[in-house]
Amino acid sequence: MRDPRFFRMFDYSRGLLPNSEIARLEALSPDLATARTHTGATLGWPGWSLLYSLVLCHHPRNEPSVIIETGSNFGATTAILAQALFDLGCGDSRVVTFEIDEECAERARSLWTRAGVADMIHLVTGDVREVFEDSLRQFLDERQCRFALLDASHLEADVKYEFETIRPFLADDAVVVFDNTYQIAEIGEDQRVNGFLRSSRDQFEGESRQFALL
Ligand SMILES: C[S@@+](CC[C@H](N)C(=O)[O-])C[C@H]1O[C@@H](n2cnc3c(N)ncnc32)[C@H](O)[C@@H]1O
Repeated sequence: MRDPRFFRMFDYSRGLLPNSEIARLEALSPDLATARTHTGATLGWPGWSLLYSLVLCHHPRNEPSVIIETGSNFGATTAILAQALFDLGCGDSRVVTFEIDEECAERARSLWTRAGVADMIHLVTGDVREVFEDSLRQFLDERQCRFALLDASHLEADVKYEFETIRPFLADDAVVVFDNTYQIAEIGEDQRVNGFLRSSRDQFEGESRQFALL
């Protein structure tokens, strides 16, 4: 089993970050424990870089679009996604993000204001299992979503629910990113994201869907 603490790096140049507020928070964060107080349970570097580049490479320039993220947490990755849309010239685009925890939602709103991307983000507060489908209908037409990060509850049944709910809204060439895809659970425990990806392999085989694994 891989240790997730090894995934987030801190010995990198903060100048590589595409958003100055995230760079400022990362400059205050020499290690994981400190970083958690500034940016929360976020993907961090180099995951942010991967997502930023994926959006830049995958989205058409100057065309409005909607990115979906479940699990906003402190809003750090949301800010990176919004920055990518801005840098593409997609100023009318939105990141629609979902968060169940009111305190996290407040921290996220504050971060987005400081990061200069608040206008490009719509936050839905509540349990994604209750609000996801109606919100997707509100913000997306069928087969319109080209990029989603599913990163809320990591329980296998919840990941399955999120993926199956967003599936009708995905464009044929959509990229869906999951976090914590490594084998984290012991035998007999909930198999989490890794369990969903393993059990869904047969069900979704043959689709042109691209899964990015962090
Ligand atoms: C791993 S963090 C997300 C990190 C964030 N995507 C980032 O990279 O910065 C997971 C977040 O999902 C939220 N969450 C967990 N279950 C949820 C649910 N059922 N509905 C909405 N949010 C949920 C948690 O409160 C937590 O803030």
